[in-house]
Amino acid sequence: MKVAVLYFTLTGNTGRVAEILEDDDVDLIQVKGGSRLLSLLGLVRKPKFDAVKYDLIVVGCPVWYKKAAPPFVKALKSMDFGGKQVNAFITYALKEKSALKEVMNVVKKRNGSPGRTASFNVSKGLEESEVRKLLSF
Ligand SMILES: Cc1cc2nc3c(=O)[nH]c(=O)nc-3n(C[C@H](O)[C@H](O)[C@H](O)COP(=O)(O)O)c2cc1C
Repeated sequence: MKVAVLYFTLTGNTGRVAEILEDDDVDLIQVKGGSRLLSLLGLVRKPKFDAVKYDLIVVGCPVWYKKAAPPFVKALKSMDFGGKQVNAFITYALKEKSALKEVMNVVKKRNGSPGRTASFNVSKGLEESEVRKLLSF
């Protein structure tokens, strides 16, 4: 089974979740700008991503100001998930609120089938077995 993990990270927490998901059959695809400042400003490049190649897609980003990080949402809006299942996660420091719902609403609009979700409070540490559940249907 081939999996794509599309993620955005500014300070590394979401990137650590992505690294736990990394495996032989898992492609990590980072959405980013040319620099941290450009990423913060939302000037991210559209990642090279073809949903046809994958059985499952996982998307993940941080919470910024109670919402899914806008640079990542912008990138999601340019994608076509080709009817594939999309699992989603967010990382946050205080409260997650509606960020996951926001991500899944975009996933639906971009032809993805919403699957599992997970949210990780970065102050509590990451449970690897919880993270890896994102690799299943
Ligand atoms: C610009 C900015 C805004 C943030 N806003 C929130 C917030 O509203 N709620 C929250 O719980 N955490 C907030 N955080 C904390 C991040 O969600 C948290 O540290 C996250 O894991 C960062 O992910 P990253 O290290 O992958 O960039 C914010 C962080 C940044 C940089």
